[in-house]
Amino acid sequence: MKVLMLNGSCNVDGSTRCGLDVMARTFAECGIESEIVNVGNKPVQDCIGCGKCAEKKQCIFSNDGVNEFVQKAYDADGFVFASPVYYAHPSGRIQSFLDRVFFSSMSADRYAAFKHKPGAAVVVARRAGTSASFDVLNKYFGIAKMLVVGSTYWNEFHALTKDDVPQDEEGVQTLENLAWHMAWLIKCLKAGRDAGIPLPDIREEVMTNFVR
Ligand SMILES: Cc1cc2nc3c(=O)[nH]c(=O)nc-3n(C[C@H](O)[C@H](O)[C@H](O)COP(=O)(O)O)c2cc1C
Repeated sequence: MKVLMLNGSCNVDGSTRCGLDVMARTFAECGIESEIVNVGNKPVQDCIGCGKCAEKKQCIFSNDGVNEFVQKAYDADGFVFASPVYYAHPSGRIQSFLDRVFFSSMSADRYAAFKHKPGAAVVVARRAGTSASFDVLNKYFGIAKMLVVGSTYWNEFHALTKDDVPQDEEGVQTLENLAWHMAWLIKCLKAGRDAGIPLPDIREEVMTNFVR
């Protein structure tokens, strides 16, 4: 059982990474493997809405890790999307990255790599903008038939640099509880599958452009 975590900061070793390391340690205590993927500090292409992913079954832009992330997602049992707060929103690079991950995944096979799996957003800021950023990242889960995991507070912690992270004791506790919660849910889902509980009977044939 494995959790795939996305570090949406251009700093591969900054505050965001430090928070994900807290979660990785907790996952390990629970017997759950984890992997951190970095969006990195190179330019990340935004989605251009070309729709070519429907025929190619992957994004046409293949030089920045988006298609590799989707491939890894098929084998993952849970997801954490983490970002620093930039002007009260998630980093532009994580939004560009995830827009292409989810649009190509929807076009390829209706979110098969993500559906019925737990996901959690995590945000870090020096001071403010966390709730707005958290809301943005949570949107990906709802549309992809995923299960949103909570903690003992909204999944946020406060730090200007990674050295500040341990001082935010409640933030660290929130991350640890989030990881415990996700690990427990992953085990429950496996127990359900092993017991033969069928997947939900989801209808997807209706898709309207207007509400009248
Ligand atoms: C361009 C930019 C915008 C930022 N905007 C905010 C903000 O709106 N609110 C805030 O509290 N911190 C803000 N910060 C601070 C970062 O969120 C904070 O330093 C965070 O720990 C960086 O995470 P990282 O080390 O993983 O990159 C901003 C930092 C940068 C570089």
